[in-house]
Amino acid sequence: MLARHSKEFEQALETTPRLGRSGTLNEIVGTSLIATLPGVQIAELVEIVRGTDAPLLAEVVGFTREHCVLSAYGETVGISPGATVRSIPGRRGFYCGSHLLGLALDAAGSPLAGIDESKPRAAIPEDAEWRNPNPPPPALAERCALKKQTLTGVFSIDHFTPIACGQRIGLFAEPGIGKTSLLNQINRNAKADVKVIALIGERTREVEEALREMRGPNTVLIASSSSESAASRARAAETAFSVAEHFRAQGRSVLLLVDSLSRLFRAYRELGLAGGETPVRRGYPASAFARLPGLLERAGNTERGSITAIFTLLLSDEIEQDPVVDEVKGLLDGHIILSKELAQRGLYPAIDITSSLSRLETSLLSDEQLLCLKEIRTFHAEFKDTERMIKLGAPIPANHEQLKAMHSEFERLLYREKEDVRDSWSELLALRNALIETQNTEVPNIGTATDPPNIGNTVLGFRS
Ligand SMILES: Nc1ncnc2c1ncn2[C@@H]1O[C@H](COP(=O)(O)OP(=O)(O)OP(=O)(O)O)[C@@H](O)[C@H]1O
Ligand SMILES: [Mg+2]
Repeated sequence: MLARHSKEFEQALETTPRLGRSGTLNEIVGTSLIATLPGVQIAELVEIVRGTDAPLLAEVVGFTREHCVLSAYGETVGISPGATVRSIPGRRGFYCGSHLLGLALDAAGSPLAGIDESKPRAAIPEDAEWRNPNPPPPALAERCALKKQTLTGVFSIDHFTPIACGQRIGLFAEPGIGKTSLLNQINRNAKADVKVIALIGERTREVEEALREMRGPNTVLIASSSSESAASRARAAETAFSVAEHFRAQGRSVLLLVDSLSRLFRAYRELGLAGGETPVRRGYPASAFARLPGLLERAGNTERGSITAIFTLLLSDEIEQDPVVDEVKGLLDGHIILSKELAQRGLYPAIDITSSLSRLETSLLSDEQLLCLKEIRTFHAEFKDTERMIKLGAPIPANHEQLKAMHSEFERLLYREKEDVRDSWSELLALRNALIETQNTEVPNIGTATDPPNIGNTVLGFRS
């Protein structure tokens, strides 16, 4: 007999008539499909038969005493009352393995229709494993401390909000400020064994662009665009985490890029409301807040490998009242804020170093590096204040021209693409020392561009 979830079982499942439970579709209410299908489980996939069209895939998202609530993965066109609904045994998971590298997948983990579906399925390699899309996060005992910096290749992130291997960080900005472009830049420059890119609820045009620009031999791209259902968008996030978890279990360092977490949260809201829940916080049902921590906790380090995760989030004008932003900031280990003012000045990536924060900064950088950053941050904030005051009519300080030149130099350092990190630290330190001289204080120099300070034994001065 074939072992359940073995490759042979999966292949047999593809080719033999399905023997799952079958029931009837009774009603469609908004985006919820109400069916009689006893014995199914939450998150199980079912198919709804529709005339001459291919069956429609749907997910079980809730149930009542008599009925189960389904959320379809596609358009409900062609569905008729009393349509047959069949459970698909064994179809909660999918195969993860090296055959996924370079591919684009749909929410259920199958090669994306019209893009990669023609690639032969026979190529499931020996190292492949059957993965459930929503397993529990790693237990506390399996987790390892986050101590080693992972480089993104973006100067302002690597210096002002350094990210640890296994860290989870949010990229917050108002619409159109450069979140997706920055993820793209990180994808191009970051060092990781495998990059998993999840596009959730993005415009179809952006998915097309990502398919052209973000794919590479060590990437796996999972897409569920804004035109797809809430169930599909939510499943896409779980599928992306499952792919990342597979490669982590293989001992790889994985970079997971999710664009966007806000749209995933909206999918959770739609699913909760469709399941009959009451909205509790600004239109969001309690389940939306309950689902997110379990998902985000799946990132991190284990003894074998790591998942470093970067999520984009949309800021609205009413930032204080946005429960999603507050909730996510509390769950993640840091946040990078993009500034509208910098984007308007054409300074990209428009990272605001004064409001961005990495909670692991102190364990990743040396004391000298932290001191250097603190002084440069202070200089930046004070310079901005002085400029504001001058505009309001305050007298111009004697050394203002000199400080202005230094601030321009500082902005030149911040807003550029790929850098050599060692040289960059030297440049930052040189800037800091020049600042100290200009401000004529008695704080001692901590190094120069040609004479880097003793900041550890590693090449970059980072603690390992
Ligand atoms: N690094 C960059 N260099 C030059 N232009 C940029 C850069 N980043 C962003 N832009 C400009 O900003 C525009 C919007 O960028 P992007 O789509 O990345 O923003 P977004 O925050 O992801 O938007 P949305 O919230 O709509 O998803 C781009 O079309 C481009 O004109
Ligand atoms: Mg975007």
